[in-house]
Parts: sequence; structure tokens; C-alpha cells
Amino acid sequence: GKGNYRHFMEKELHEHPAVIGDTLRQYVDPASRAVARPQLPFDPATLPRLWLSGCGSAFLVGQTARYWFESLARLPTDCDVASELRYRDPPLTEGGAAMFVSQSGETADNLAAMKLLRAGGQSLVSVVNVPESSMARESDATLMTVAGPEISVASTKAFTAQLSVMACLAINFARARGAIDAAEEARLTHALLEVPEHAARILDATAEIEAVAADILDARDVLFLARGSLFPIAMEGALKLKEISYIHAEGYAAGEMKHGPIALIDSKVPVIALCPSGPLFEKTASNLQEAAARGGRIIAFTDEDGAVALRRFASRVVVLPKVDPFVAPILHTIPVQMLAYYVAVLKGTDVDQPRNLAKAVTVE
Ligand code: F6R
Repeated sequence: GKGNYRHFMEKELHEHPAVIGDTLRQYVDPASRAVARPQLPFDPATLPRLWLSGCGSAFLVGQTARYWFESLARLPTDCDVASELRYRDPPLTEGGAAMFVSQSGETADNLAAMKLLRAGGQSLVSVVNVPESSMARESDATLMTVAGPEISVASTKAFTAQLSVMACLAINFARARGAIDAAEEARLTHALLEVPEHAARILDATAEIEAVAADILDARDVLFLARGSLFPIAMEGALKLKEISYIHAEGYAAGEMKHGPIALIDSKVPVIALCPSGPLFEKTASNLQEAAARGGRIIAFTDEDGAVALRRFASRVVVLPKVDPFVAPILHTIPVQMLAYYVAVLKGTDVDQPRNLAKAVTVE
């Protein structure tokens, strides 16, 4: 049941800290702070190339993981939506592998992409939340998320559980490939293990996110901007907002603004930025300043250090805990999903059963 929550989505949002913690405990040994060697059909040390595939939010997990696998593990990685990958007929590298992300494990296009890559000689791994699912059966190895049943059609806790698995793999692959040492592994796993506590603090700050929801309630279009590994999370924020509040939203790489979307900006188009302090802060902040100069209403999610600069031109700044940039995508997922939820509640939409959508898309 929903317990004391109004919707399953609200209940499942509040399960983020537990689910991230439970999933991390499957992959990280807290004593040694090392990622336990996952059961895989390939050797990450010599893997020439990795394909990632998913649909909707699961695709965005793949996109985030691509940043991690490339920059941390130095592993050539490709990622596409399953409905395209299955028709792309890409040249496949001998000895390559593919990973398929899915909550249900039943998504038709992802299953079809799996069969294509199997026929191309790739070894297959599924990252699923349902152990008995079709995708688990089709793959050479299955990595489980420990999210528990997800009832709300809009995915929440399964998404952060998937990110948690991918982050552990990125660390493990980076070690295997000699890209990081044991001290760096311990530092990164420590940052991951602190995420549940930070997530709980964000979930407590309901009033602040509800205020942002009230800000954007009447908008027809909303832009979500970010750079780097947070760019897919900007797209996740936009996807969730479209899905349950029926407001048109797009996630954009902040640096792409000036190549078109900036033409849309006026005081009626809220610009939501994921912009924590770190190596990409200055560049992102300057993109936001350009939007503000054109009358855009900037709503920024950042940390204490970022807030100082952003308050000069943003109409609202939400301060999140300061974390290592590696774990920032997991943490920033929570406020953007909460935001979509509170907008939907204010609009009175059918939050758990949005129109035209099904929990598991078993048709192509
Ligand atoms: C987004 C959402 C969908 C699913 C997508 C994939 O909130 O729920 O975009 O993420 O349909 O579903 P799975 O993960 O079951 O393959």
C-alpha cells in the first residue's frame, strides 16, 4: 500500500535513500571500500568497447554511465535508445560487450536490441530490477538493482538504483583498467556511500521544492540545462515533467543554448539549471547568465559554493549538499523528480497513472 503517502510516486521518492544504500551494499565492501568484482561475461581490463541501451529514463542512466565509463575507466562507450540501436546496424567490435538497462526487464525494444547485439557476437549484461524478467533470461549475466517493486508509472527509485550500479561498475572498471588506484577507489566509494544521507536531507526540504513547483506551474515550456554527467539528469527532469505534469520540457546541454534554444527564452520560459560548483561551473553559469540577460527566469540547483555567484542573477537558488562531482548525477536526480511530482500534484493530474503511458512497454 501507499502508507501515509498520497501517491505511490511520493512513497517511492522517499525510498531513494534506502534503495541507493541497499544497492550499494550489493556491490561495495564497506570495510575495504572496494567494489566487489561483479560476475561478468567479459574482462573489463581488456574490453575494447561497450554498448549501452535503454528506453526513456533507463536510456538516461546509460547516458550518465557513458560519462563515467569514458572519463573514469577510459573505456570506449556508446549509448543509444533501444528503439534506434536495434535498427542502426552498427559495426560491432569483436570481443565487445553490451549492457541493457531496464526496471521491468520486459521492454520490447530493449529486448530486440539485445538480440541484435547477441547476433553480432557481443556478450550481454542486463541491469534489471526483476530477476525473473525476459531480459535477465536473455543475457549472459544479470546485475540486479535492489529497488523493490516500483508501482508508479514514472520511474523514481529504480533510476537511482540503476545509477548506483553503474557508478560501482565505473569504479570497478577503472581499477581493472589501471585508470585509478586503490586510494581513489576508496575515495569514490566513500562519496557514493554518503549519498543516501544527502538524499534524505533533500527529501526533507519539501517546502523548497514545492515553491519551485509553484514558480513553474503555469509555464507552457520549461528548459532544463546542465553540462557533463548532469546533462542526462537535466533530460530526466524534463522527461518526468512532461510525463506526469504535461508541461512541455526539454533537457539541453548548457553549451548548446546559443545554437538555437536561446531564441525561445523570455520571462515565460523557466530555465532550470543543475549547476553545482566544480570544473564545469563557470561555463554553465555563464550560459545561464546569457539566458538571464534575455529575460529568462533562472532556477538553479547548486551547492553552497555555487550559490554565491548564481544568486546575482537567478530568480531562485536551491542549495543542495556539496558532493564529489562523480556522485552529483545521483543526488541531482532527487530534486528534479520531486519537482515533477509537486507540479503534477498542484495541477491535479493522475500522478501514478499518467495518460497514455504504461509501466512496462512490451509493444514496439
Ligand atoms: C520514465 C519512465 C519510462 C521508462 C521506460 C523504460 O519515468 O517510466 O521512460 O523508464 O519505459 O522502462 P524499463 O526501465 O522498464 O525498461
